[in-house]
Amino acid sequence: MRPGPHALPMVVASAPGKCILFGEHAVVYGQPAVAVAIDARVRVSIGDTDTGWSIDGMTFDKKRHPHIDSIRKRLWTVDGGEPLSLQVKSELFGSAGLGSSAAICSALAAGLLHRAGTDAGELPLSGIATTAHLAEAEAQGGRASPVDTSTVTLGGAVLVSNRKEAMANWQYTRDLRINGQRRTWEVHRIELPESLDDATLVIGFTGRPGPTGDMVAKVAKLLERQPERMQDIERIGNVTRAGVTALSLGSLDAIGIAMNECHRLLQGLGVSDADLDRMVEAALPSSHGAKLTGAGGGGCMMALTSEPRRTAEAIEIAGGRTLVSALGAPGVRIEND
Ligand code: MEV
Repeated sequence: MRPGPHALPMVVASAPGKCILFGEHAVVYGQPAVAVAIDARVRVSIGDTDTGWSIDGMTFDKKRHPHIDSIRKRLWTVDGGEPLSLQVKSELFGSAGLGSSAAICSALAAGLLHRAGTDAGELPLSGIATTAHLAEAEAQGGRASPVDTSTVTLGGAVLVSNRKEAMANWQYTRDLRINGQRRTWEVHRIELPESLDDATLVIGFTGRPGPTGDMVAKVAKLLERQPERMQDIERIGNVTRAGVTALSLGSLDAIGIAMNECHRLLQGLGVSDADLDRMVEAALPSSHGAKLTGAGGGGCMMALTSEPRRTAEAIEIAGGRTLVSALGAPGVRIEND
């Protein structure tokens, strides 16, 4: 790809955060997972500079921003592209399991492609998701699934599995070759029925980061010590498939039951904690279902509710900071075309 000429107008690209409805952790072992894009976005502005690569006005440090370094190497500096100045603005809680690093990667990839001449309406979504996933996988030692990067890129509701699933619209295969290993996932879209337009997600942040790499490693160790626990991973897969059917039918109660069951199984894997459990308990009386979302060990929980104000109050009283969203925001896009 060719870098753009100097003195181009600033490009602003954005991508949404995401919440995993069902299947986190199990998806690392090939089981299906479903995530939705949420109404809080990350915006990346890309402009000219005379002084070398910078981010938010500071000299770019690739050790502090390995994801961004990976994207710029793949899409920009590989052809000797000129240095750029980047500004990142996020409406998401940071390091909270809401996909903020995936959203930065996706928005940056889209912005660089647009700056290099790709029409805003013709962004290659599967290529952007692939580039963003490689950046995530490198940063997490090869274990990251493509759930976050696919969801923030495609938007809406996304199903990722190790096989093509009949109950969703298949989009592309994600093939990851890293550390001498090859892993493959099938990425699908799920059409959400209109009846879900009235449902709301209330996300509750514990205020502590969710250390994704550590939590994924914790589950890997548990499975090494107790291989029979792979049954719980398979159970999460079965609950997720039931959850997809419930989603497609727009059955809020059935979606909630699947969410509650996922939370119980994730507790069993040791990835929930006292704060997440307290917030989930607080949300349950006013919601259809509630669970941790993302890697756990801090980070966020979420509740599906038809009474968002009541649920948000309950989560806040239990110590959480809240964010309210519909299900299925638009994916990556250029903002200033
Ligand atoms: C992180 O958002 C979800 C996990 O399943 C890890 C992954 O999918 O890469 C815990």
